[in-house]
Amino acid sequence: MSYSSKYRTHHCNELGSEHIGQNVRLSGWVNSSRNLGGLVFIDLRDREGITQLFIDPETSPQLAAKAREIREEWVLAVAGTVRPRPQEMVNSSRKTGAIELELSELEILNRAKAMPYHLEDPSSSEDLRLKYRYLDMRRSGLLENLKLRHKISKVIREVLDENGFIEVETPILSKSTPEGARDYLVPSRVHQGSFYALPQAPQQYKQLLMVGGVEKYFQFARCFRDEDLRADRQPEFTQVDLEMSFVEPEQVMDIVEQLLCAVVKNIKQINVPCPFPRLSWKEAMHKYGSDKPDLRFALELQDISGIFKHSQFKAFSAALEQGGLIKALKAEGQAQKCSRKVLDQFTETARLYGAKGLVWLKVEADMSLSGSAAKFISPEEQRELLEQLQARGGDLILIVADAWKTACESLGRVRLQLAEFAGLINQNEINFLWVQEFPLLDWDEESQRFVAVHHPFTSPLDEDLQLLQSKPAEVRAKAYDVVLNGVELGGGSIRIHRPELQAQMFKSLGISDQEAKLLFGHILEAFSYGAPPHGGLAIGLDRLVMLLAGAKSIREVIAFPKTTKASCLMSNSPSAVSPAQLEELGLSLETEEGLSDQILDTKSH
Ligand code: AMO
Repeated sequence: MSYSSKYRTHHCNELGSEHIGQNVRLSGWVNSSRNLGGLVFIDLRDREGITQLFIDPETSPQLAAKAREIREEWVLAVAGTVRPRPQEMVNSSRKTGAIELELSELEILNRAKAMPYHLEDPSSSEDLRLKYRYLDMRRSGLLENLKLRHKISKVIREVLDENGFIEVETPILSKSTPEGARDYLVPSRVHQGSFYALPQAPQQYKQLLMVGGVEKYFQFARCFRDEDLRADRQPEFTQVDLEMSFVEPEQVMDIVEQLLCAVVKNIKQINVPCPFPRLSWKEAMHKYGSDKPDLRFALELQDISGIFKHSQFKAFSAALEQGGLIKALKAEGQAQKCSRKVLDQFTETARLYGAKGLVWLKVEADMSLSGSAAKFISPEEQRELLEQLQARGGDLILIVADAWKTACESLGRVRLQLAEFAGLINQNEINFLWVQEFPLLDWDEESQRFVAVHHPFTSPLDEDLQLLQSKPAEVRAKAYDVVLNGVELGGGSIRIHRPELQAQMFKSLGISDQEAKLLFGHILEAFSYGAPPHGGLAIGLDRLVMLLAGAKSIREVIAFPKTTKASCLMSNSPSAVSPAQLEELGLSLETEEGLSDQILDTKSH
């Protein structure tokens, strides 16, 4: 691993008892320094680890004087002899803890200002750490995540290479693609008034590569989406993007399983059962109230509408009358543990996701029910409810009555919160699954037309083709998402490759021939020269690394991430540009706020 240079013969994690008596050179940063009754100890740190340096003022008075000036994070190059530490000084928690380096040379390569915060202080704010990201990287956690990311990328490249995939780069300055988010636009200087769009994904390019006969493509693709950000979303992120020709969903899912199993095996030494379990979208929504269910714990939602057909309880009967349903969740043994405050939090969550409310019932030891709405539920209904849910004394029952999607989704969110609260999640488990048979189209209230759930090139299931005109809402797509521990890790589909079907699809989406030509003319033209059947998928690399690193946010596995407000605190971007730059692009701002006279014309640099 180490290379010999004027700066180092070893890394700071390498020296041990076997090197005792050897003369070595090390370089790195001062992690800490201590002055103990004249003896100077310095912990020198590099990318790999820490070695203790020792200077004896009796034998090396000049070196000791120099060493006493040294401060944290200065950069040093040192040479010396490896010697054993006295028995009582051995640090068994550190790899190099049995030895220390007695210095014969010490060169200060660079000094450092006092640090703006203590680098290893866990309480330092994320904003501060983002501002000094290059210092944050010196902290062990972030560096380890970057190493992990590298290792995962390497395994992915190897698996795809072994399976005949070719890595191809596609343009960053490209044309808007319909992935569902807003585009980041780049104004063109040469073609004033025209804009490039940064790719939300290389979707169209990879399909064009299939028309070009590449057959198996992959890329670590940078994607850009202007959307609301959260812990697992960044405006700029990386996909492992792949596409294959002459395939059905099976072959795409197979290669993705191979790839993910190889990654987990390599990183965690765990053999993940393969093939991954599969759920239809409908089943996932019904049972778990989510299109990316976390199956590390059971907790299934149940449809209890049948019990309340003639209910006197308004909240239940109204939902049923309006074509909705009643869903319940049983939490074994949680009745006593969930305080009123916790139940209020569950209710708030259900409301946040659209439910009108959340009914909670506690099963008492005598099998009677107590709780928010117990008095509205007849003895007969109570008996049936306990029977259907197979509830026992001490169980907690949570109920939402609403439209199908709202009832499923809101109770699905409560399910996650409950699992977290009750400690039902095994944090070490790796739980993959596929969700497939997504709806092809979704009704958009605002525009009063159907929109593609994935994108307009997604193929319908063969058996649903005949419903495309008559019952578009019921058509399922040849689309599949891979889910890891309740996080959508990747998604893809088999694409439409025949022009007749594409035309039918545009019709269902209310896109006229003219509009289709304007938006997708180039791809439709390409498809008219013999497009092979093809399909693919993209995995969110940042999310994969986050989950395997046990990190809470993808910001922790990206070298230079943006904040949730899409800004970079380190470089202060986005930032104002000079009037000259705007003029060159033929742009003017409506407000003066974005302009900065202080910014020099970039041409002069
Ligand atoms: P999709 O839009 O589902 O599919 O994206 C695929 C995967 O990319 C990750 N991802 C993100 N990661 C971080 N920040 C974001 N803002 C973000 N948005 C998405 C997710 C997601 O599952 N072209 C299609 C793929 C295909 O059909 O082949 C696409 O981009 O992990």
